[in-house]
Amino acid sequence: MAKKVVTDLDLNDKKVLVRVDFNVPMKDGKITNDNRIVAALPTIQYILEQNGKAILFSHLGKVKTEEDKADKSLRPVAERLSELLGKEVKFVPVTRGPELEGAISEMKDGDVILFENTRFEDIDGKKESKNDSELGKYWASLGDVFVNDAFGTAHRAHASNVGIASNLDSAAGFLMEKEIKFIGGVVDNPTRPLVAILGGAKVSDKIGVIENLIEKADKITYRWRNGIYILQSTR
Ligand code: 3PG
Repeated sequence: MAKKVVTDLDLNDKKVLVRVDFNVPMKDGKITNDNRIVAALPTIQYILEQNGKAILFSHLGKVKTEEDKADKSLRPVAERLSELLGKEVKFVPVTRGPELEGAISEMKDGDVILFENTRFEDIDGKKESKNDSELGKYWASLGDVFVNDAFGTAHRAHASNVGIASNLDSAAGFLMEKEIKFIGGVVDNPTRPLVAILGGAKVSDKIGVIENLIEKADKITYRWRNGIYILQSTR
């Protein structure tokens, strides 16, 4: 089934909610790799070219206590994004309420804001991570359309992706579109031999992916810590 993409939406003069994945690595408050910010630029720039107002948001790390908030703010990301876009990105240090609503109502076409880490909502009942229906509805009420460009978070059912999409006209951004096309083609109709090379620390999250690939790939390798593991394909 064809997916709706950002180019299918009328963005002129619209408040465009954009879920990005700005879950970037940080050390002492400094971003150590900005790849994920760079990867979101085409969608953001397109929205601005179409005279939309870009309202960006993302999670960053895990936030379980008030203390966790100190080094999990998206403020440094807003600063880096502003440098990359060559224009002001207003950072709104909250995830809901009058300050956020006021900042959105003052936006002009072509403006960009980034609001605070969506997982700040996890402190009180994991509202973001458990896709609290009121939170998804509230965030959806802040915009006219929703663009999901957070491919790295597509395996999560959060209020800031699934919750909003259930309440608002939605489409995939360019990064999401590119990744879906690429992965879909490789997995459904591969040139053989198909070798899957996986890695990353969050091993438990990869089990579903491995279960799926084990029937399709000819070889699967998993790189973890200092080891490379070859998994037996069932194909
Ligand atoms: C990632 O970095 O893998 C994604 O942003 C998802 O992050 P999460 O594992 O904290 O949900």
